[in-house]
Amino acid sequence: MRINVFKTKQEASIEIAKIMDDLVASKPDASLGFATGSTFILTYAEMAKLSKINKTDYDHVRTFNLDEYLNTKGDEPFCYRYFMNEKLFKHLNLSPQNINFPAVDIDYSSLKTNEYDQIIDNIGIDIQLVGLGRNGHIAFNEPGSSKSTGTRVVKLAQTTIEDHANHFFGGNVEKVPKEAVSMGVASILKAKKIILAAWEKPKAEAVAHLFSTEPETSQWPVTYLKWHNDVDVFITEEILNNIDQKFLANPSLELIKYW
Ligand code: GLP
Repeated sequence: MRINVFKTKQEASIEIAKIMDDLVASKPDASLGFATGSTFILTYAEMAKLSKINKTDYDHVRTFNLDEYLNTKGDEPFCYRYFMNEKLFKHLNLSPQNINFPAVDIDYSSLKTNEYDQIIDNIGIDIQLVGLGRNGHIAFNEPGSSKSTGTRVVKLAQTTIEDHANHFFGGNVEKVPKEAVSMGVASILKAKKIILAAWEKPKAEAVAHLFSTEPETSQWPVTYLKWHNDVDVFITEEILNNIDQKFLANPSLELIKYW
């Protein structure tokens, strides 16, 4: 696992954006997996900038988002579809029919075939961006999620509700939807390449669990990424400085400092 450490989230985000822009330039029909939340806001701004400078063509690119709040229409400002459109999609020449989100208005418990997982299986995601909850969740796969999970309805953990309240709902936990639909761990792990990013100290404990030599555990879903063969982790010096040395002694970590 490559650990790319930057002084600031700005520098790290520029690097991630370059990787995405380069991929689309070399593979015009690339399929990109996106995450919402605060972590990738700067990456998306930089991708938008690069697409203008480099005239990167997104016309044949397909996108897959990790998650969305349950029973929402996508057009309210707190929705992930709205977020992606504002932060990135409207700045690129994506074709609307190539933008994919998990359906939030169907009964997953009675599904015979899970369409979102099937499309992802058939097309294959080239690069999946993954954010991290301070409780170790990836997408909305909260602690307790198994490695074989598919796209499904999930209940949000209390820490997730609190973090979302602070970032997107003016601190009001009552306003945060309590359920969402999330791509499962199994689909995330099928991506050819995964880029995980985390910037602030509260996430250091979850990152440490990913770095440790201990086996994967459902209590820290991020640890499922340990055995994927192409994971690039982008963190700040702030995160690195808050990880106990014993977690960094893992011989399978390749630590690269960009300063
Ligand atoms: C949220 C979302 C994820 C996101 C992650 C980190 O709960 N479900 O898709 O990547 O948790 O969020 P943030 O980037 O705001 O810290």
